[in-house]
Amino acid sequence: MNRARTLKAMVTLAVAGTLAAGMTVILAPAASAGTTLRAAAAEKGRYFGAAVATSKFSTGTYMTVLNREFNSLVAENEMKWDATEPQQGRFNYTGGDRIVSHAQANGMSVRGHALLWHAQQPGWAQSLSGSALRNAAINHVTQVATHFRGKIHSWDVVNEAFADGGSGGRRDSNLQRTGNDWIEAAFHAARAADPGAKLCYNDYNTDGVNAKSTGIYNMVRDFKARGVPIDCVGFQSHLGTSLAGDYQANLQRFAALGVDVQITELDVTQGSNQANIFGSVTRACMAVSRCTGITVWGVRDCDSWRGSDNALLFDCNGNKKPAYDAVLNALNAGGGITPSPTTPTNPTTPPPGPGGCTASLSLNSWTGGFVATVRVTAGSAATNGWTVTTTLPSGAAVTNTWSASASGNTGTVQFTNVSYNGRLNPGQTTEFGFQGTGSGPGSTPTCTAN
Ligand code: G3I
Repeated sequence: MNRARTLKAMVTLAVAGTLAAGMTVILAPAASAGTTLRAAAAEKGRYFGAAVATSKFSTGTYMTVLNREFNSLVAENEMKWDATEPQQGRFNYTGGDRIVSHAQANGMSVRGHALLWHAQQPGWAQSLSGSALRNAAINHVTQVATHFRGKIHSWDVVNEAFADGGSGGRRDSNLQRTGNDWIEAAFHAARAADPGAKLCYNDYNTDGVNAKSTGIYNMVRDFKARGVPIDCVGFQSHLGTSLAGDYQANLQRFAALGVDVQITELDVTQGSNQANIFGSVTRACMAVSRCTGITVWGVRDCDSWRGSDNALLFDCNGNKKPAYDAVLNALNAGGGITPSPTTPTNPTTPPPGPGGCTASLSLNSWTGGFVATVRVTAGSAATNGWTVTTTLPSGAAVTNTWSASASGNTGTVQFTNVSYNGRLNPGQTTEFGFQGTGSGPGSTPTCTAN
C-alpha cells in the first residue's frame, strides 16, 4: 500500500472509531505531501524550475524528468543577447519560442534570462560604445521583452553587473561605461515593454551578507526609493562544498526592501555535503515568505555547465540523487509565500472620446536617447486604422519603430497602424513604440482614426 492509501486507511479507521463512540468530528482537509518537486513547490505557492536547452528536447530521459519534476523553465542560453539578436536589428526567437511553447503546453511558467549582460554579447555589440551601445542595448531590451510580452513570469533584466571582491561596486564593462544609469534605463524599458513581468536583477557570489551583495542591496534600496521599477532579485547560488551561515538572513534583508527573491541558478558541488546544502538552500527559501521559487541550472549532472562537478539533482540516467530527497523534504516541510503585485509604471489609459481615438505616450529617456511607448485607444466607434502624430524637438530623430510604421523621422512624425492592430473595438487599446536619439517628444500626441 502506498503512503497516501495508508494515510487514508488510518483516517477512515479513526473516524469510524470516533463515530462509534458517539462523538462529532470535523475533519480539516489533510495537507498532502507533494511527490514531485513541482507538486511540492506548487502546494506552497512556489515554482521549482530548471534551466533547459532545446538541443536536449529530443532526449527521452531528459524530457521525462523535466516534465515530471519542474513547473518553470529558463533558457540556459537561448534568450541571451548573442542568441536573440545575432546581427543588429535582426532578431531570432527560435529557441526561446520553443521553450515558451513547451512550458505553456506543460503548465510551466518561464523565467527570462537575460536581457543585458556583459557576457555572451553578439560581436557587433561588443564593438560598440557610448550612446550607440546604450541605444542598441535599450532597443534590445524593448524588442525582446515586447516579443515575449505576457509569457514571462520574471525577467533577469540585468545580469551580473557588480564586481567580485571587496569593492561592492559595479563591474567594469562596455555597458557600465555607457553611464551608471544603464541599469535603471534597462528596467524602465523592460517595464514599458512587458508591464506584467516581474523585473529582476540577477547575480552570483551573493550567497550571504558580503561586500558584493551589500552593493546590490544598496542599489535595490535606491531603486525602490526613486521608483525605478524593480520587483525581484535573483541569487544564482552556484555553490561549492559549504554554505554561508547567513544565506537565509541575506535573502530576508532583500525581501525587507519590498522585492521578491528567487534562487535562480542553483547547483552544488557533489560531495559529502551536497544533499545538505541543497536542503539548506531550499529551507532558506521556504522560510522567507517573499522567496517565490527555486531554479536549478540544468536537469541531470551531464547537462550541467559544471561538468564533472555532478552538481545537480539527477544522475545522467535520470535517477534521483540524495540531494533530490533533501530538496523534496524541505519543500514539503516549508511555509507558504506572500504574493506581491507588480507595480506597473505605465500611464493610465485616457478616456475614449466620441468616435475617433486618443493616444498617450510614456517616455523612458537618458542622455542622448529615448524609448517611447504609445497607447492608442479607440473612441466610441470601432477603428479600421489610426494615425498618431507627434513632434520631436530639434536634434531628435526616430531610429526604430515597432508595431507601427513611421513616416518621417525628424520634426513632425506620423505613425500608422500595421496590419494586425488597425482594427480596434470601441474603447479597445493597442500599443506601439519607437526609439530615437536626442530628446523624446514633450507634448501629448494626437490620434486620428479611419
Ligand atoms: O552553441 C555553441 C556550439 O555551436 C559550439 O560548437 C560550442 C563550442 O564551444 O559552443 C557552443 O556554445 C556554448 C554554449 O554554452 C552552449 O553550450 C558556449 O561556447 C559556452 O560559452 C556557453 O556557456 C554558457 C555560459 O553561461 C556562457 O557564459 C553555459 O552553457 C551556461 O550554463 C552559462 O550560464 C551562466 C548564466 O547565464 C549566468 N550565470 C552563470 C551561468 C554559468 O556560467
